[in-house]
Amino acid sequence: MRVLGIETSCDETGVAIYGDDMGLAAHAVYSQTEIHAEYGGVVPELASRDHIRKTLPLIHQVLDEAGLGANDIDGLAYTAGPGLIGALLVGSALGRSLAWAWDVPAIGVHHMEGHLLAPLLEDPAPDFPFVALLVSGGHTQLVEVQAVGQYRLLGESVDDAAGEAFDKTAKILGLPYPGGPALARLAEQGDPTRYRFPRPMTDRPGLEFSFSGLKTFALNTLHQLQTSGEDSTQGYADIARAFEDAVVDTLVIKCRRALQHSGLQRLVLAGGVSANCRLRERMTEAIEAIGGRAFFPRPALCTDNGAMIAYAGWYRLKAGQREPLAFRPRPRWSL
Ligand code: KG4
Ligand code: ZN
Repeated sequence: MRVLGIETSCDETGVAIYGDDMGLAAHAVYSQTEIHAEYGGVVPELASRDHIRKTLPLIHQVLDEAGLGANDIDGLAYTAGPGLIGALLVGSALGRSLAWAWDVPAIGVHHMEGHLLAPLLEDPAPDFPFVALLVSGGHTQLVEVQAVGQYRLLGESVDDAAGEAFDKTAKILGLPYPGGPALARLAEQGDPTRYRFPRPMTDRPGLEFSFSGLKTFALNTLHQLQTSGEDSTQGYADIARAFEDAVVDTLVIKCRRALQHSGLQRLVLAGGVSANCRLRERMTEAIEAIGGRAFFPRPALCTDNGAMIAYAGWYRLKAGQREPLAFRPRPRWSL
């Protein structure tokens, strides 16, 4: 079975083809960041309009790259939620309509399930069961995964998601949208010993996270820096570094705890923030130090993409699941 996957939940249009015979045959992502940058964040209406412009050309591109025609596709998968309703509607309506026109089955995929399964596209892929840390712009969740579809939430953020905290702190530091990668680049030049930010909720038991206080801490530190008369790039970089270290340490502490509590050895990281280099390095060391192993998708499959949707959809379609013609995008949808 070959499945065409479509991702349009936010500001990236992603399309890919996954099949038993070809694996990940082709994938392409078009990012709208330039459009939203001047507004400092995603403008939902502009996102929907741009998905309308880009999705069909990307489908043609990916079919060409894979050397396939419409007749070679056996199923359609599209992100049905969670995400921006207008953006979800574009991919869902297009995916469902193409499936109808091509007379093949269709399935709506949960965006976070896509992220969660993305590491299975890599070699070596983790075996089940594992603990997954999902860290994106909208979610920070620890999930125990027994098999595809068997998920138990172990803990999540009580306020901002890790990616959201990166983006808000980046904004405070005057960095352009999207802030996470820009903050990570600035942090490279930062002195890790100058400031120490808290590691929220690590001094009490449990697997919940709280990241909203860190951006306030960053804001207060920036005010101190400015009132002391120092308004240098170095000072900003030092704050970025202290912020990044605090987020990374917090995630590492909770992931180790989740493995210890669940008795599992494999940890899977997914979602946009798992593209962060310092997080990948430090998590790998910390998990290996307790005899475990950490798995990540390649950076391009950490952030939003069509490959993860094609793969999750392929899995579910092969299991016989189908979405009827009356498709239903779900802007809020728990895993
Ligand atoms: O998974 P994703 O592409 O979209 C959502 O489902 O939200 O994640 C986007 C988030 C953004 O908050 C972005 O700033 C963050 O992931 N991000 C990063 C990095 N790359 C993306 N955060 C820190 N370091 C990075 N290298
Ligand atoms: Zn995502």
